[in-house]
Parts: sequence; structure tokens; C-alpha cells
Amino acid sequence: MTTAHRATPRTRAARPAPEVATRRADFPLLATRVHGRPLVYLDNAATSQKPQAVIDAITRYYETANANVHRGVYSLSEHATAAYEGAREKARSFLNAREAREIIFVRSTTEGINLVASSFGRTNLGPGDEVLISAMEHHSNIVPWQLICEERGATLRVIPMNQAGELLLDEYERRLTERTKIVALVHVSNSLGTINPVREVVARAHARGIPVLVDGAQAAPHMPVDVQALDCDFYTVSGHKMFGPTGIGMLYGKAPRLEAMPPYQGGGDMIRSVTFARTTFAEIPAKFEAGTPHIAGAIGLGAAIDYLSHLDWGLVAAHLEVPGVRLVGTAAHKASVISFVVAGVHAHDVGTIVDQEGVAIRTGHHCTQPVMEFFGVPATARASFAFYNTREDADALVAALAKVRQVFGG
Ligand code: ALA
Repeated sequence: MTTAHRATPRTRAARPAPEVATRRADFPLLATRVHGRPLVYLDNAATSQKPQAVIDAITRYYETANANVHRGVYSLSEHATAAYEGAREKARSFLNAREAREIIFVRSTTEGINLVASSFGRTNLGPGDEVLISAMEHHSNIVPWQLICEERGATLRVIPMNQAGELLLDEYERRLTERTKIVALVHVSNSLGTINPVREVVARAHARGIPVLVDGAQAAPHMPVDVQALDCDFYTVSGHKMFGPTGIGMLYGKAPRLEAMPPYQGGGDMIRSVTFARTTFAEIPAKFEAGTPHIAGAIGLGAAIDYLSHLDWGLVAAHLEVPGVRLVGTAAHKASVISFVVAGVHAHDVGTIVDQEGVAIRTGHHCTQPVMEFFGVPATARASFAFYNTREDADALVAALAKVRQVFGG
């Protein structure tokens, strides 16, 4: 993975590197037909397709190595434990964390954020304190903070953005005060495609001793992530958006931060000793992994990381230039997530018509209702590209949108 996979609304869609085009064959589902037409899959921001290597790793685990981890002294359990912990090491390497114990396997980005909001929030937030998020957050980086703020008597504050969908850094600076206890920010916006200046945001927060959590769900599939270079305190991603299985994600946390936080959930595997009077807890990462984990998921995620590490993505630019189509989110620094509205046509109708042409896009508020409100639209259509999308896919979308215009008389 050498370069960011990004989109610009102004240049023509570039053909992916030949090596990338041949990689499509690694994804069995991309050969599917929909309504008699070849599938054009442009909903990668919702979930990506899975390469055969990931599917095989999961099957192989269940066929040859299935046993619970961290519990058995028998060979099969030791084998499963080695595979599970091996996946943690791959995750460490993928995010460039210092140590594997800084990686907590979680269900998803959503669970990673809930873990930090709940555990960090319970011990660090009180009346008068503030949590600072941005105007372009996914609901999963809003609601967990609202819940903990309500519980602790703290206040949620919001960094505004401009009409291009870019953060206003001066406004950010103004909202950083001695009351701010944590900043939680999306790296790449799922509904606008904006790539936020995370390093800068972290530096300004750290200058005041404030930790930063980064929602990396949409960044990890598009660009190399280096948590040490970003210097963030927490970074969380979902496996299923980066060509891995559903139901598994990773939360990175700096070891001293994680060590200072109480458990998120109680149960097996997260304890050192239990009596009815008192429980002591295991060290990280086990402290945050109560119960039998998603072993197959972690192994499948490890296979996805292996797959990505062998990929030279090159630069893929995508764009949309269709009469009557308005882009929502035109940040200068943007990933290949293109939200748009077609004049006079509801986004759901756009989605239904392009589906008839075999083109899968997402329509709706994309779990970012405040973003929709800011831009004054109820919903957008959204095409989100992955490295396996080709120029033909972009052309198919443009042709399908022409059908939309025909149907609605544009
Ligand atoms: N958050 C995911 C999306 O943007 C589901 O589609």
C-alpha cells in the first residue's frame, strides 16, 4: 500500500494499476450479476468485499484449528491461541502500534468508541467537563459520548465545518479549554469523504494535555495508518470495511491510557482472580476482552491484513461529472467517497434505479444526520470506491445516473 486511494470531483476517473485490475479475481462476489447485469459494487464505505484468502482463512480455522483460546493446555487450544495472538501482532504491525498489548479486539469501530467513552468517561468526566467532537461525525462517534456525558453531567461540544466539509481549525482551537477532557474525531468522513488533519488536531490537543480518539473506520481501507506518527491516544477500525470479516475490529490505545482505564465488560478471560468479595483484573489487552472472543474473526482480519500488505494500490482517482448532480462534500483533501444529490430526485429513487443497472450505491443519511442537516438535504446517494473498482465501474455509475435523469425527465 504505497499511496492513498483518493477521489477528486474534478479529474476523470483514472484506470487502476494493471495489478489492481487483476486483483478483482481475488474477490469471488465481484463476479456476481444483478438484474442480469454484472455487479458494479460501489458501497465499500458500508462494507467491502472479501478476498478468497480471507474466506479461506476463516474456513481453515473452523476445519482444522477450532478450540477456545487462552484456556486449554491441549495442542489444539494452543494452536488456536497462537493464531489469535498472531492476528493481534498483525494488527499491531498494520497500525504501527508499539506493542501488541495496545491492540484490543472489539466487535467494530462502534464498540471501540463505546469502550473508550464508557471506560475513560466513567473515570475522567464529571460535571462541567467537556467532550469535543466534530460536525461530521458518524452517529457512532456522537451517541456514545452523549450517553456518557448525560450520565456524568458533562457537555458535548462540536467543532464546526465549512461548506466544503472541512473542519474549521480556528474554531477547534477556540473550543479547546481546561474543561475539555477528550477530543474524538473521524479520520475520513463516511458521508463526505473529507480526510481530516488528524496529526494537527492531535498536536493542538496534546499541547493542552488532552487525549484524542480517532475513528479510523473509513481511513484504514484507503491509506496506511501509523498511530505512532499520528500520536493519537486511541484509534479504532472495523475489519469488514478493510476486506476482513464482519463482527471484528481493533481498538488501539496507548498502553498507559489503557492501563489507567477500568474494564468495559466483566466476564471470563479479563480477570486475575475472583472471589465473591472482590475481583482483580488481568493486564491489557485481556482486561478489555471479556468472554470468548471472535477467534475466527480475528484470524480472518489477520488474513485481510496480510492481503493488504501485498497490495500496491497506486493512485486511483474517481470523479463524477453529470449534469444535474450536486456533490455534497468537496474538501480539498478527500478520499474516494462521493456523496451527491440529483436535482429533483430523492436519493432512494436514485439508488433503486441505478440498482436496476447493476450498480450498488448507498442512499440515506449514512448514519450522519447532523451532516445532512448542515447541508440541508434529507439524504444523499453515495458511491464509495475500493482499490478493485475500475474506470468501467465509474462509467457504469455515470450511465446509470443518465437513466435516472431520463426516468425523471431531467
Ligand atoms: N457507517 C457505514 C456507512 O457509512 C455503515 O455506510
